[in-house]
Amino acid sequence: MTDISVLLKEQRTFKPTQEFINQTNVKQWMDQNHIASLEELYEKASDWKWFWEKMSKEFIHFYQPYKKVVDWKPPYVKWFVGSKYNIVHDALDLHMQTDVQHKIAYIYESEPGETQKITYGELNGEVNKLANALKQLGVKKRDRVGIYLPMIPQLPIAMLACAKIGAIHSVVFSGFSALAFRGRMNDCQAKVIITCDAFYRRGKKIFLKEQTDTALEDTPSVKHAIVYRRTGDKIHWKSGRDIWWHDLVKNMPKICETEPLDANDPLFYLYTSGTTGKPKGIIHAHAGYALGAALTLHWVLDVKPTDIYWCAADIGWITGHSYIVYAPLILGITSVLYEGAPDFPLPDRWWSIIAKYNINILYTSPTAIRFFMQKGDEWPQKHDLSSLRLLGSVGEPINPEAWIWYYATIGKEKCPIMDTWWQTETGHFMISPLPISTLKPGSAVLPIPGVSADVYNEQGESIIEAGGNLVITHPWPGMLRGIYGDPARYQETYWDRYKNIYLAGDIARIDQERYFWIQGRADDVLSVSGHRIGNSEIESALVSYEAVAEAAIIGVPDPIKGESIIAYVILKNRVKSSPELIDILRQHVAHEIGKLARPDRIYFVRDVPKTRSGKIMRRVIRAKALGKEIGDISTLANPESIDEILKI
Ligand code: WT7
Repeated sequence: MTDISVLLKEQRTFKPTQEFINQTNVKQWMDQNHIASLEELYEKASDWKWFWEKMSKEFIHFYQPYKKVVDWKPPYVKWFVGSKYNIVHDALDLHMQTDVQHKIAYIYESEPGETQKITYGELNGEVNKLANALKQLGVKKRDRVGIYLPMIPQLPIAMLACAKIGAIHSVVFSGFSALAFRGRMNDCQAKVIITCDAFYRRGKKIFLKEQTDTALEDTPSVKHAIVYRRTGDKIHWKSGRDIWWHDLVKNMPKICETEPLDANDPLFYLYTSGTTGKPKGIIHAHAGYALGAALTLHWVLDVKPTDIYWCAADIGWITGHSYIVYAPLILGITSVLYEGAPDFPLPDRWWSIIAKYNINILYTSPTAIRFFMQKGDEWPQKHDLSSLRLLGSVGEPINPEAWIWYYATIGKEKCPIMDTWWQTETGHFMISPLPISTLKPGSAVLPIPGVSADVYNEQGESIIEAGGNLVITHPWPGMLRGIYGDPARYQETYWDRYKNIYLAGDIARIDQERYFWIQGRADDVLSVSGHRIGNSEIESALVSYEAVAEAAIIGVPDPIKGESIIAYVILKNRVKSSPELIDILRQHVAHEIGKLARPDRIYFVRDVPKTRSGKIMRRVIRAKALGKEIGDISTLANPESIDEILKI
């Protein structure tokens, strides 16, 4: 067994063997293009317009060629201007002309343990049937379709069916509550939604249709709910609105023409948390996004046509959109899709899946890695993990302990770890090693070829060896196209701080070798189990409970989840605090947003530190709670409030 503590102390760097390097996609591309070194590759790709144009020829196929590669009118970008394109053309249609049609697209394993293998041809047939059905329901180009489904094959099918006809999908993670789903559907004005009766999670059934019914009590734009029968449970039925998926597609043809769209037409809106209570509907478009996602999967996670690949995220997040649905399908890859919880029925479920399907690539999050680390080495040791060739990580900084454990215990010291930094907004990996890079545990290494990132101080000067704001200095293919319905917020959030330079919202440091070390969010956004949740979103959920006057949310370090959520709650006059009220408030947040946003601890206080203008000073609360230096409190209006915050 590897002595992890020794590996840690050594602080060594990890370089893949020459043999490994030679078989990677990126190295083979370099050889074909007479690029001798990694330095030369980065150098060449710094001519980013040239680079992305060249890559577009290798990864995506237009119906009609573009007139201009990129049109950058800050803060909006357009890629492949003047061309006609549809991502489904690359993800499915072109495969129908090759042997890929007979290849397995998804190996699906349900939580109870059934396996289903779906070929590209079958997937295409199902997508076409649903696309025809959507059209029959009156769904047109640019109409929004809400999707509220668990990890079952119908989720990618629904997304692709929308994309095919030019409708815009907005997937809401099935762990979000009815009210969170409702808010998003009202924001995007969905015309149709797609859901299922129920699904399995940790051996229990989650009644998603019940939640959908609650959500749809107040969504005037939604005309129809398409319901997939997953468990066969009895559900409430609203006739006229609800339609069974199987009834709808029964007589639909398996052929449906893909709609040639403008390359910059929107593909999806995906909501992500920001610093206000209202989530942002991030807009992504067809062609640029397709290119960025496909190239990065090919070069960074180094997936080969013969591989079995597993991105163990949920499709409800951007990770799943890009790296379970669109990129693997464009590349014609076989992916694993797993419905359930990682530790069901036992903590070796994931390792048994890897051994069972001979998975070559595993892409997951630090929070999952730390979770398994804590469960103990005996669980992975029960299974043969020798099929693994490369590992990936995403969602938050991976601490070196978790990196080394992942490397030694899961990868058996032969699989490089790609620590990929990116965001819902970026659509695809931005800062990441290549499989031929020298790795430093905890560093996301360098901006990928064709992307340029930097770290700025307050004055907008590049700095090294010091923490500052992470920025992206020119557009990239998967760049967001705005926030749906809120151009002002788009401008302010990303583009105002440094003129026409993208502000990521993270703090990072660049070391002497220009390696990037991401340190966490700069704004009031929590990172819980790799998912972004705005502090103010949870605060507004708490305040919506009648007994609560005000609430302040902070995140404190948590060994597994990254951050744990602590709430300071001010009750209304005459309301008595009690342990029951803590439970009620936790449930209330689960109801308003979802279980992932539930505070781990709730403290009742008379006041919270605020500025003179009434803004909660979360930084001060956090410092006090963690017993750290409180810093500048000259703008604090109520210093006595600090004394109430206990050290935790
Ligand atoms: C935020 C984006 C991108 C898919 C998952 C999350 C953090 C993401 C890393 C990484 C350090 C990371 C950042 C980023 N983050 N990947 N490899 N190292 N931090 O998507 O919900 O849009 O969150 O996740 O803070 O801004 P998201």
